[in-house]
Amino acid sequence: MTGFALPPRRRWSAPASIGALVRQFYARVRKDQRLGPIFAREITGDWEPHLDKMTDFWCSVVLKSGDYHGRPVPAHLKLKDVTEADFAIWLALFAETAAELFAPETAAVFVERAERIATSLKLAMFFRLGPAPNPGGA
Ligand code: HEM
Repeated sequence: MTGFALPPRRRWSAPASIGALVRQFYARVRKDQRLGPIFAREITGDWEPHLDKMTDFWCSVVLKSGDYHGRPVPAHLKLKDVTEADFAIWLALFAETAAELFAPETAAVFVERAERIATSLKLAMFFRLGPAPNPGGA
């Protein structure tokens, strides 16, 4: 697949590039055998609001635009059938898309942020404290 084309004579715009990244990434996610059905169950109608929200999210993360005001953890905690392995698929598709659209050093910034956020989402979703040790001994 080739990169997206910006309109001629228009200056490079970071939000427009991020919008393209988000759209191409979710196009891939929707075609993925494992992730496609998970998203299809959650986003049943128009995808535009999700794509706009995710563009705001990435603009906030990378450009510090302050456009995103949502709460990612509760949105993922309610996804009961998602496993840790699904995050590896998500991250691989994201890295693939970023590498196609951006210069390597820019792609690396996005991928590094995605990995860090994925780690905190996974902690919120899958990490459970074991039972407290019995202070009185067995
Ligand atoms: C296997 C991995 C993942 C799955 C299956 C998944 C799935 C979803 C779904 C279905 C939604 C929509 C929830 C809704 O609108 O009710 C959502 C929202 C969202 N996801 Fe993920 N996600 C994954 C990983 C990630 C990662 C790694 C990030 C960040 C790097 C992320 C960021 C977000 C954000 C910001 C929202 C919007 C939350 C809100 O404000 O409503 N997701 N995700």
